[in-house]
Amino acid sequence: MNPKTESGSRKVQITETILRDAQQSLMATRLPYADYEDILSTMDKAGYYSIECWGGATFDSCLRYLNEDPWERLRNLRKNLPNTRLQMLLRGQNLLGYKHYHDDVVEKFIELSIKNGIDVIRIFDALNDFRNIETALASVKKYARERTVASGCISYTQSPVHTVQKYIEMCRELKKMGFDTICLKDMAGTMTPYEAEYLIKGIKDAIGDMTLILHTHSTTGMAYMTLTKAIESGIDVIDCATSCFSGGTSQPATETMYYALTQFGIETGLDEGIINKVNDFFKPVKQKYVDNGQINAKSLATDSQALVYKVPGGMLSNMIANLTDMHAMDKFDAALAEIPKVREDMGYPPLVTPLSQMVGNQAVTNVLVGERYKNISKEIKNYIKGEYGIPPAPIAQELIDKVLGENKPVDCRDEDKKRTGEDFAAAKEALGDLCQSEEDVMSYICYPDQTLKFLKYRREQAERESVYTIEPMD
Ligand code: CO
Repeated sequence: MNPKTESGSRKVQITETILRDAQQSLMATRLPYADYEDILSTMDKAGYYSIECWGGATFDSCLRYLNEDPWERLRNLRKNLPNTRLQMLLRGQNLLGYKHYHDDVVEKFIELSIKNGIDVIRIFDALNDFRNIETALASVKKYARERTVASGCISYTQSPVHTVQKYIEMCRELKKMGFDTICLKDMAGTMTPYEAEYLIKGIKDAIGDMTLILHTHSTTGMAYMTLTKAIESGIDVIDCATSCFSGGTSQPATETMYYALTQFGIETGLDEGIINKVNDFFKPVKQKYVDNGQINAKSLATDSQALVYKVPGGMLSNMIANLTDMHAMDKFDAALAEIPKVREDMGYPPLVTPLSQMVGNQAVTNVLVGERYKNISKEIKNYIKGEYGIPPAPIAQELIDKVLGENKPVDCRDEDKKRTGEDFAAAKEALGDLCQSEEDVMSYICYPDQTLKFLKYRREQAERESVYTIEPMD
């Protein structure tokens, strides 16, 4: 809402992403809580709009790789960041995974997220089918506390049907649904400066003083120019990462944007000394992961290929890996040319996980088999049946005929709406006495195998500690 500061100047605020998207993009979300606990009380004084620190892949990574309870991590973050909005990313009806959950599961997940300390819940759907974010929104409103913010998020992509007008309509819809703020999520970093200008001016005209946020990635090198145009066009909040964890597949740098904005006469509310201290703290942390190979040079570099081929960088490297495995790299150019065709046939889905992999794999299959859609993957069949939601444009008739035949597409909401409690009952039964809380049940529903493994580890740890701990005698 471009709040005017006391001196009358404009304000653009910054969300710090080091604890979620920056480490997810640069080091596959392997940053343990212990690595940053000591800087949290300092970060709490920085003056960020929010700290993105939970959701996305952090939940899975805690259980799968780090032997951490994601809920305990959240409670610790809350305790050490009492004055800062804690932010998470949520994939609507998919929560933090890729399948649709029942509405009662979605509601419970949000209740527990808020109870354990989350303030800002940024909610998106891969297809921008807003029916898939309705339950999440209603749950946030139901359990909202004083600082709770429901942020409606749009997956940004480029296609003949993704016009400025279409994005403006989406924003009007999010506002009407009752979201508190709106975020444009450019996951591939392909939004160009002038696209940002037309989009943001148009959206701001349409949504009035509602807070508008831009999330982009430095992947293609566009981000600083795009942010500059976004700022000129009226953006309210931008996502950045402390500079040693910025650039490449991560976000643009917090301090750099702070200095640029200050020179524009725009206030950020940030404390210069503190944000530099935060970066100093993370420098050796980053070096540790560069040295052990978890952060590689490729993720830190600029890769403009996404602008040439109009597909995200991760999707290209995935395709190259698959073709190399099959000794078929000679088909790379043909597979690349096939992507736009497959995407058009599928109704121009945004190329975000898991759709980017699905489109990429189908393009490779079409080229390798030598006949279009002779083999169709199970995931794409489900997509065509309607299980993911409604695509931005109609699916090609050829594909509908092949997959659906005489059957009608399904409404993904029919199954989602069931509130039988069966997921909770099944989880409690599977966990038995390993289960100590509602949060354990929720972890199991989201990631059963990883949670079982983690809860067994937790019990072994507790038993070991009870053996070695000497009780005080006084
Ligand atoms: Co991102």
